Amino acid sequence: MISDKQKKILAFGYSDYDAVICDGAVRSGKTSIMAVAFVDWAMREFSGVRFGICGKTIESCVKNIIIPFISMSYAKRRYKLKWRRSDRVLEVWSGRVKNTFEVFGGKDESSFALIQGRTLAGLMLDEVVLMPQSFVMQAIARCSVEGTKIWFSCNPESPQHWFYKEWILKHEERNALYLHFSMEDNPSLSKETIKRYKSLYTGAFYQRYIEGKWTVAEGLVYDLPSGAVTDEIPSGGEYYISCDYGTMNPFSAGLWCVSSDTAVRISEYYYDGRAQKRQLTDLDYYDALVRLAADKPVRCVIIDPSASSFIALIRQKGQFRVKKADNDVLSGIRRTASYLQTEKIKIHSGCENAIREFGLYRWDCTAACDKVIKENDHAMDDIRYFCSTVMTKRLKHTPLD
Ligand SMILES: Nc1ncnc2c1ncn2[C@@H]1O[C@H](COP(=O)(O)OP(=O)(O)OP(=O)(O)O)[C@@H](O)[C@H]1O
Ligand SMILES: [Mg+2]
Repeated sequence: MISDKQKKILAFGYSDYDAVICDGAVRSGKTSIMAVAFVDWAMREFSGVRFGICGKTIESCVKNIIIPFISMSYAKRRYKLKWRRSDRVLEVWSGRVKNTFEVFGGKDESSFALIQGRTLAGLMLDEVVLMPQSFVMQAIARCSVEGTKIWFSCNPESPQHWFYKEWILKHEERNALYLHFSMEDNPSLSKETIKRYKSLYTGAFYQRYIEGKWTVAEGLVYDLPSGAVTDEIPSGGEYYISCDYGTMNPFSAGLWCVSSDTAVRISEYYYDGRAQKRQLTDLDYYDALVRLAADKPVRCVIIDPSASSFIALIRQKGQFRVKKADNDVLSGIRRTASYLQTEKIKIHSGCENAIREFGLYRWDCTAACDKVIKENDHAMDDIRYFCSTVMTKRLKHTPLD
């Protein structure tokens, strides 16, 4: 079954509009139907030409668009498909008609260089708000074939975002069809699933990802629910240390115990060289990590990827494995917020510095798009590294991952 809103995406391919913009809630049925409508339109209107399919990164585009599309029985029944992974190209045949769909990642430098040399007959930009404006403008400029159409989809961001100002507000003058989606527009979601997604978000994230509104992120970044602070220390599990390195700025590290799908920050180390009027050396910090581990079998230290001298020292000492953290700030904040909200991560009440920073860490509401104020963010960063690097591998339920 296809919802009425989804039928409008299918009908766009037959319309006089030059572009379609689908925005709104997570899991509302935008990407999946857009991929079908895009390929059907391309195969109906053209032959022997090239199209672009863009995601935030090549990897996310393959995972979220290409693999689901080539696995779909509708697509397999209708077309002959060949996915050439190494070239990142999907070839599609329908009788004598053949077209090529090339995958690009808006945030991948290699894609930016590659797309400059292409001539495209159409473009699908999924998660367009996560791409740099320069990439999107370049990609659109490549669409020079007569009859081209551009297909955009995204979840809302700040109303200051370039895509909101340049495309959504100006959709009429750009001859674009604007379709706004809510979870009810996806006929495959049960009431229980919708309820579960609603429980994942609070604040600006709830307004954007559930209500589908373009809202400014303001006030505190995290709303620490009382259930996420605990007095209990698990009796056992897997141990990790997450670490945000600083010499003049504070240094923060947390010891985590993970059992099944829940993690507790059981203790922490925090040192503010400026406040103490004394800088510590890497060796001092290393000794602090050893004391924090307190003979627990730590699986690895997840650390700020820019802390090269300290990473080298930990490796040289040989006691701990080191892993450089995924440092994508905004997706890390989104994950951390939903893990706190669903109590997948908890903070022991003795972790005073983390709890203090939760009460201070704020959005910069004067910025043109989502940006945090870089203050009181040291424990916040080490917690985010832990969530993005360890917990996302264990928990697959955050829709935007
Ligand atoms: N009409 C439908 N029938 C069956 N399944 C559907 C239908 N529409 C969407 N789905 C399924 O629902 C899930 C979410 O859909 P989709 O990925 O298209 O949503 P989205 O709006 O792009 O979400 P996000 O904003 O999180 O990227 C997918 O697994 C998709 O296959
Ligand atoms: Mg999508």
